[in-house]
Amino acid sequence: LLCFALAPLRADDGATSPEPADEARISYEGAQLLKVTAPSEEKEVALRTLQDMEGVDTWLRLATNSSTVDVMVRPENADKVKEFLDGSGLTFDVIIDNLQAAIDTENPTMTTDEMEELEGRKGHRMTWQSYHRLADIYGYLDYLAQTYPQLVTIQTIGNSIEGRPLKVLKISSGRPGSPAIWIDGGIHAREWIAPASVTYIINELIENRDAHGESVKDVDWYILPVVNPDGYEYSHRIDRLWRKNRRGSGYCAGIDLNRNFGYKWGGAGSSREPCKEIFAGSSAFSEPETAALSKFVSSHTGTLKAYVTFHSYGQYILHPWGYAVGYPHDHADLSRVGQKIASAMYQAGGASYKVGGAAATLYPASGGSDDWAKGAAGIKYSYTIELRDRGYFGFILPVQYIIPTGRESLAAVKVLADEIANGR
Ligand code: ARG
Ligand code: ZN
Repeated sequence: LLCFALAPLRADDGATSPEPADEARISYEGAQLLKVTAPSEEKEVALRTLQDMEGVDTWLRLATNSSTVDVMVRPENADKVKEFLDGSGLTFDVIIDNLQAAIDTENPTMTTDEMEELEGRKGHRMTWQSYHRLADIYGYLDYLAQTYPQLVTIQTIGNSIEGRPLKVLKISSGRPGSPAIWIDGGIHAREWIAPASVTYIINELIENRDAHGESVKDVDWYILPVVNPDGYEYSHRIDRLWRKNRRGSGYCAGIDLNRNFGYKWGGAGSSREPCKEIFAGSSAFSEPETAALSKFVSSHTGTLKAYVTFHSYGQYILHPWGYAVGYPHDHADLSRVGQKIASAMYQAGGASYKVGGAAATLYPASGGSDDWAKGAAGIKYSYTIELRDRGYFGFILPVQYIIPTGRESLAAVKVLADEIANGR
């Protein structure tokens, strides 16, 4: 145990920029999450005004067949927003009345002693009982590659803006040329349930390999648990609600990586304004994170038959297209398999997921990774899965939901393995 005591507990996550020790954590003391409802269809214009209002942070935009939006309101804007709500005929519920209190209790972390004990016993610090820092996630991937060298390899496919490695874990079928599935998570920094669920999948596919049938062994898996490591670390250290990557600095830093992919880049549902949460960047693939992902995926299009990207929240299984309402020629296959995924997820974890085209079901958003995977890389089964919940905790999903959501995520990718495994 001595060696663990001597090693720095937070193993290096590879960042080349120094930790900004003096940068203060952003407080959400007194901020509220409101679920705002339009009582009639005519009132939906008011909802649309609200979700784009200055001083309103929209967590969940108005989706097709929905009459609610989730908005976070900081205390300094509360009067203005409440006034708008009173005047507009919209109704609302306060879902979280002090966001900082929710943030403070969301993620109980282990003590140093507990972490050392765990690492000594298991060879890594990963659990599915808390949301882990990047160093723990990477330490876990490294442990797997060392422990199962025949089955597991790690490839660094590039580096983030701040120099953190982008680590793809491959689980090999052992047969070259096998059909393959790509899985990623954490394109959006604050959606912590996504990397947690993706690492849950990794753990089951490796450490519990015999429990999941033959088709999971017949395919190759390429898994990038954290597409946006800089944003992820920033959301742990500084701003729990950070979404974009970390290009630049200050309030207007960052590019929305899910608007930066090179298929219908810059269209509806993306922005040219750097301060916006949906800023698409200066050009398609301007960001090292999306460029590395697309380069790697493009070099495996011969075998990749499925692309799955995990986000939160809302409980949706979305397939192309996302840039505008419309469908690829094989819509029927995407829809049929999407429905299978929904049933499997429900059986595995108990949450209901809605299936449909991304723009048709949610809202149009161009430059997403799912559209690129389908439209440019030509990967047949491309899905964005929006994990739990439906806006009661939102991004601040307590840790007891990691395992049920992880089970649902695993069930989803097993459906895809069944679909593409040899002989189909
Ligand atoms: N919530 C996701 C986002 O806004 C949905 C993406 C769905 N895909 C798409 N191409 N629009 O980024
Ligand atoms: Zn997202």
